Amino acid sequence: MEKRILGKDLAVSAIGLGCMGLSHAYGLATEKTQALKLIREAVNVGYTFFDTAECYIGRYKDGSLSNNEELVGEALKQYRGKVVIATKFGVRLEQDRITPPVPDSRPHIIRASVEGSLKRMGLERIDLYYQHRIDPQVSPQEVAGVMSDLIKEGKIGHWGVSEADETYLRRAHAVCPITAIQNRYSMMARQHESLFGVLFELGIGFVAYSPMANGFLTAKYDRDCVFEANIDYRSVMPQFEATGVDKNQRLLDLLRSFAYTKNATPGQISLAWMLCKKPWIVPIPGTRSLSRMKENAVSSEVKLTDDEVNGLDEALDKVGMSKVFGVA
Ligand SMILES: NC(=O)c1ccc[n+]([C@@H]2O[C@H](COP(=O)([O-])OP(=O)(O)OC[C@H]3O[C@@H](n4cnc5c(N)ncnc54)[C@H](OP(=O)(O)O)[C@@H]3O)[C@@H](O)[C@H]2O)c1
Repeated sequence: MEKRILGKDLAVSAIGLGCMGLSHAYGLATEKTQALKLIREAVNVGYTFFDTAECYIGRYKDGSLSNNEELVGEALKQYRGKVVIATKFGVRLEQDRITPPVPDSRPHIIRASVEGSLKRMGLERIDLYYQHRIDPQVSPQEVAGVMSDLIKEGKIGHWGVSEADETYLRRAHAVCPITAIQNRYSMMARQHESLFGVLFELGIGFVAYSPMANGFLTAKYDRDCVFEANIDYRSVMPQFEATGVDKNQRLLDLLRSFAYTKNATPGQISLAWMLCKKPWIVPIPGTRSLSRMKENAVSSEVKLTDDEVNGLDEALDKVGMSKVFGVA
């Protein structure tokens, strides 16, 4: 797969694999052997960028815990040095209940988190370490200072911020250069396009999470889809509600017809659209299925011209759509 550079020098595959859903937020965790197989097969397909977090914990069918960092660490043990693993610190999540994450980036908490993540993943160094959410109680300078120390100590290679805003980025970057942000970004959630200017100016990459609007943009879901309450976040996502699905039909028609002209799938177009906007954007779609993981990888081969990207943007501005999870 084509490579992209995040920040100054972090080379990653143009599409990364979001591993969260294998353990957390999309219902019961994927059976472990299957999950290990999926992650390893992704390496064979060309993915070299894997995303997890300290708080991605869910349950297997038998009630035992699936720790996503442990899973990713085990799956990629044999590929050390050949792949980039990103994880995150700084939020607490409740188990078995859908609640907003609680931020906590106090320096001693970060210190404990980094040791825990290294241990769970069996790593000596985390390639890319994100602050998962901004903590209003801790200044960007203080967090960046801890990151600078962790880089000097060799515990992390690069750092980033998830759900960053411009002011925070500027302050933190001045203390310790940021390699990437990881923000929500999809055809249904374009609010962070306003950060493109500052990202370009500071040389920071944009890792796009939930790049397919949690799967909705693949056009494979309809108003009859039912998701398990409390453990599948799609059960509370407005884009999957029956009224949301109805409101989004014109958007799906737009995607389907454009995909037809490019001999691609709607999901591939939703990823290719952002890849063709900036060379430093890297989407990290998540999936539990081998065939969908392969389908998503091919998106990096679907090329859209500037005119096509602009045409899609104009159509997206006009088409009308439901709210999407995570955007006020
Ligand atoms: N920083 C943060 O706060 C944050 C928040 C959320 C997520 N993330 C990261 O971003 C990654 C991706 O986000 P996400 O999983 O929320 O959203 P996403 O990638 O937009 O969507 C994932 C969903 O789409 C479905 N899907 C994927 N490819 C498909 C295809 N080709 N055809 C049909 N359905 C497809 C998956 O179902 P199947 O499994 O059935 O294929 C899954 O339900 C996560 O894994 C996580 O690492 C970060």
